[in-house]
Amino acid sequence: MLSRCVSTIIAAGFAAVLAAPAQAQGTQPGAQPTPADIEAKAQMCAACHGANGTPLDPKTMPNIWGQQPYYILTQLVHYRNGMRENPVMASIAKTLQQSDLRPLAAYFAAKPWPAASNTPAAPAETPKGLTMCTPCHQANFQGGISWPRVAGLNYDYMVAAMRSFANEERTNNMDMVKIMKLFSDSERDAMARYLAALK
Ligand code: HEC
Ligand code: HEC
Repeated sequence: MLSRCVSTIIAAGFAAVLAAPAQAQGTQPGAQPTPADIEAKAQMCAACHGANGTPLDPKTMPNIWGQQPYYILTQLVHYRNGMRENPVMASIAKTLQQSDLRPLAAYFAAKPWPAASNTPAAPAETPKGLTMCTPCHQANFQGGISWPRVAGLNYDYMVAAMRSFANEERTNNMDMVKIMKLFSDSERDAMARYLAALK
């Protein structure tokens, strides 16, 4: 039932994406996009990532509002070049022009971070492995110049992202692969609960 619902959402998102080139006709390959071009392209992202920053299916579609700009940029590059494999995001990222990527990343990074949904209870104690994360994700887990924000990321998305690094299904960052292999499923689960509950 849920998976059928998600496929419907994805199909609807795809339809929006396929319709999008008509809105963005003004952009020539290589030309600098105008703010109106970026706004039009951002509309197609809203089909899944949400018109108010809350994704349509938060368990599988991550927050991009308020995410770190360099991280948004690198993920779009990785979806385009196959370093991060996801059929939906790969086809969407390939509809963009290279010159759209930075302005789109800046556009979403400037938005407010949305409140997390479906957040389970945080563990009573801070999972001890988390001290290892702060040199990169920062003490408040809001990320930084080359590290994503993970505070308040959806629990289901986050636990799946951690597992996919540990299983080497997601290999676009080998530091994260090595780090996630150090922890068991239940340790990663505790970290994801703790981080999802952060503001
Ligand atoms: C059809 C639904 C859909 C549309 C439309 C869509 N996305 Fe996504 N997006 C996803 C899904 C699903 C994921 C998670 C994929 C994965 O697990 O790798 C994702 C992941 C991402 C990520 C990685 C975020 C993270 O925390 O790792 C970025 C950045 C992103 N999308 C940007 C965009 C932008 C920009 C657009 C518009 C140009 C867009 N997306 C349009 C479904 C969509
Ligand atoms: C050496 C720096 C570094 C350390 C230490 C580190 N991370 Fe990361 N982490 C990154 C980078 C860089 C990315 C983005 C990777 C990419 O490009 O996909 C990332 C991605 C993630 C993501 C995926 C975010 C998303 O939106 O998909 C999660 C979740 C995460 N880290 C959790 C952790 C946790 C929990 C720890 C500590 C146990 C940790 N990280 C330690 C650098 C680090």
